[in-house]
Amino acid sequence: MTMPLPRVAVLASGRGSNLAALLDARERGELPVEFVLVGSDKASAGALRLAEAANIPTLALDPRSYPDRRAFDLDLFARISASGAEWLVLAGFMRILDGEALTPWVGRMINIHPSLLPKYRGLHTHRRALEAGDHEHGASVHFVTAELDGGPVIAQARLAIAAGDDEHQLAQRLLPLEHRLLPAVLGLLASQRLQWDGHAARFDGQLLQKPLALGDEGLRLAE
Ligand code: GRF
Repeated sequence: MTMPLPRVAVLASGRGSNLAALLDARERGELPVEFVLVGSDKASAGALRLAEAANIPTLALDPRSYPDRRAFDLDLFARISASGAEWLVLAGFMRILDGEALTPWVGRMINIHPSLLPKYRGLHTHRRALEAGDHEHGASVHFVTAELDGGPVIAQARLAIAAGDDEHQLAQRLLPLEHRLLPAVLGLLASQRLQWDGHAARFDGQLLQKPLALGDEGLRLAE
């Protein structure tokens, strides 16, 4: 008897390159999950077209047709629950979620953010890293809590900032790392090697003291 695969929903607002990376990892047999829904707050999102091409059910909800943020979020989460999803991935979902609406998903929802959190929560992370004169930049995957970009960080990918890098170049060089980081973390979550204990992330049962680090061979414990 084959075990059912962990069921995953993805939310994305934009082109969906991180979604594409998840779908590719699944195609290669490296991410044994079932994608049950891809949702967006933008009907024009490239991510929705990718999902359609992969025969994954899609959902586009327009925030403007709801009285307020909470009403939108409650409907969104209700539909995600109805899809049967057990896990939820925010892959470039550019909306702040209502803290109360998201609470049932805490511990089952991850987000990818293009900075070395806790640095640079919010927008324009590449620009802010450059303006600060940082020598290093990166991306983080974290559990989503009510605090914007503030939930426990699970894993990070690091990148040296080169002299003369501009915002665009930095974003372009970071993206391939994001595309390895997100599937790797989702794989750990779906296989339950990574767990939420109500407060923090645990990896193989141990409290994660530092974010896992993405290396050539994938994720490993940071020194
Ligand atoms: C990525 O840089 C992600 O880290 C950020 O938004 C971007 C989404 O890109 N949150 P894509 O839509 O996955 O190509």
